[in-house]
Amino acid sequence: MSTQFRALWVEEKQDGVFTRSIVTRTVEDLPPGDVLIRVQFSSLNYKDALSATGNKGVTRKYPHTPGIDAAGLVVESSAPHLQPGDPVVVIGHDLGMNTPGGFGQFIRVPAGWVVKLPAALSPAESMAIGTAGFTAGMSVEALQAHGVAPGAGEVLVTGATGGVGSVAVALLARLGYTVVAATGKEDSHDFLRDLGAAAVVNRSEVDDPSGRPLLKERWAGVVDTVGGNLLVTALKTTRYGGAVTACGNVASPKIEMTVFPFILRGVKLLGIDSVNCALADRQRLWAKFADEWRLPLLTQMVRRVGLEDLDHEINLILHGGQVGRIVVAHKL
Ligand SMILES: NC(=O)c1ccc[n+]([C@@H]2O[C@H](COP(=O)([O-])OP(=O)(O)OC[C@H]3O[C@@H](n4cnc5c(N)ncnc54)[C@H](OP(=O)(O)O)[C@@H]3O)[C@@H](O)[C@H]2O)c1
Repeated sequence: MSTQFRALWVEEKQDGVFTRSIVTRTVEDLPPGDVLIRVQFSSLNYKDALSATGNKGVTRKYPHTPGIDAAGLVVESSAPHLQPGDPVVVIGHDLGMNTPGGFGQFIRVPAGWVVKLPAALSPAESMAIGTAGFTAGMSVEALQAHGVAPGAGEVLVTGATGGVGSVAVALLARLGYTVVAATGKEDSHDFLRDLGAAAVVNRSEVDDPSGRPLLKERWAGVVDTVGGNLLVTALKTTRYGGAVTACGNVASPKIEMTVFPFILRGVKLLGIDSVNCALADRQRLWAKFADEWRLPLLTQMVRRVGLEDLDHEINLILHGGQVGRIVVAHKL
């Protein structure tokens, strides 16, 4: 008998209405691929909420099972370096976009997408990090590579209570940076201080409406997760020679500004993309999270939910209401 499993199922009804339900599928329903994985844990990212609500920029065809992150055990593999029983993690590429994703209990994917987990990092821990945390890691590495060192001055993190933001705050603090967390959530200041933020500011304080081309220099570096005018303000307030990473667009995909921060202060704007990140870079970053980037605080920023809770959690993340990371635990 073929193996059945449960999956979140997003369907397009008439008039552009999308519905979500939990259905039973079989592994034969999955696309061909090198590696069949029993997914033990997934995690919720902003992009999953877009896929789960019919955003065709993320998912072209429905019905569909979202989930850009998955971690679990190899069941079958045609790749010699991946053996049944190996704990593995898959994030990004096309997973959960147009390939059935981690909100189902099984996935089948190309071997090039699969990273064998370091012994010191469990599937559950890897999903506490997930795409959001991995992107935070890429952002921190980019700042380091462009000379933003601990002790260089304050580093700003925008969207600080979100998935990328919260891991960025914790990781930067763990590495000895002086972190200033910017949030729109008045009631989350203690959460951010507990993660290691030296100071917490209200989002409006780092969202300059004046339109002036340059503002008073403050930040040695910035991890921006929201885009729009917060990213513009960050670039205008970064100190001479500093660097700003950009990975997100929850505030806006548009940036309207002059070139002056770049040509008068040498400020660097560093684009971050985790989706098509090379396999060797993935392996290096996961190894770091298992070792020198190990985050003892990770459990503090994680809530575990089941497939049946996802409906509510998706609505929350869509409206900027999540705090920290959401791990989806599959019952088998
Ligand atoms: N480039 C990549 O490879 C990559 C990878 C992962 C994620 N991303 C992108 O990065 C962004 C953040 O992802 P995430 O998973 O961290 O999402 P998230 O958990 O929803 O966090 C986003 C945070 O941004 C803040 N925010 C929400 N709406 C806002 C608005 N209108 N204006 C300003 N701030 C707002 C909120 O934090 P506060 O309330 O604390 O301000 C919110 O918690 C998304 O755009 C996502 O698509 C990109």
